[in-house]
Amino acid sequence: LDGSWLPLKQDWSTRWCSLQESYKEVCAQRIHNFETRESDVFVVTFMKSGTTWMQELAWLLLNQLDFNSAKGSFLYYRSQFIEFLMNDPSGIDTITACEKMISPRLIKSHLPAQLLPREIWQEGRKIIYLARNPKDVVVSSYHFLNAITLWKGDLDTFVDEFVNDQICYTSYWSHVIDFWRMRNEPNIFFATYEEMKRDLRNVIERLCKFLAVPNVEEEIMNQLLHHLSFDTMKGCFREILYDLKYTHNNHNSNFRKFMRRGIVGSYKDELSAVAKEKMDKWTKDSLKDYGITESDIF
Ligand code: A3P
Repeated sequence: LDGSWLPLKQDWSTRWCSLQESYKEVCAQRIHNFETRESDVFVVTFMKSGTTWMQELAWLLLNQLDFNSAKGSFLYYRSQFIEFLMNDPSGIDTITACEKMISPRLIKSHLPAQLLPREIWQEGRKIIYLARNPKDVVVSSYHFLNAITLWKGDLDTFVDEFVNDQICYTSYWSHVIDFWRMRNEPNIFFATYEEMKRDLRNVIERLCKFLAVPNVEEEIMNQLLHHLSFDTMKGCFREILYDLKYTHNNHNSNFRKFMRRGIVGSYKDELSAVAKEKMDKWTKDSLKDYGITESDIF
């Protein structure tokens, strides 16, 4: 676990972008044909929706609340990111790494419903879907993609590209709406970042039922809530990065952009009035066919 394959050390954005289209297609096909297991759980989100937070929670629930292992090992190792496609030191990529994981596997993806492994839908595998309001997602994505040099420019331009589906993983609304409409299916657990901020305890209780694991006892619940708090998780990430010697140059600041503010409504003091208006109109237009508004979801 020397972390030498971690994306922050290599320039993974250049690497990903330089992958040939044909290779990307092969990978898409491999993901589509990925063999699932009955005990698999997928954490699916649009990027920057609080994936890491939910993964940490779900991993602990699936692993008998083993806080020591959680603290001692980077989430990347415990819960693979299926489409990330980085090779580990032995040369295997994340799809192969997913195949080699021991059960129960917790697999992360930002892919939209139709690009996920086909068997999820055929076999009814469990999906935890976490959504976050689009303005905070935009702001968080902007800082993150800038930090990892996948995107350069100002926030207003980023918003333009986001609402025009030119940023990776967009279209945002079709991603969220697909899962929102499936929210009552037995294999779908739908939650929002806002709900986790409002009442994490309740999300934990709901999730225990969904995962069919015992309820968390009161004393342990406090430990769990503490472990999942923004400050603790930020500290853990920093410590692990110290261990992995990522404290030098900009790698550390990249991680500051990863565990950034951790609040609901950071867009309020970051987005311009024009950008807010543009996003409100885009949201209204995107949701009108479904007869819902943003506040029905968040
Ligand atoms: P901000 O950039 O708004 O701070 P993802 O894991 O999907 O990439 O999402 C990252 C976002 O979730 C960041 O949002 C990050 O700060 C926030 N986040 C991560 N852990 C969190 C926690 N324990 N509590 C609250 N927010 C958290």
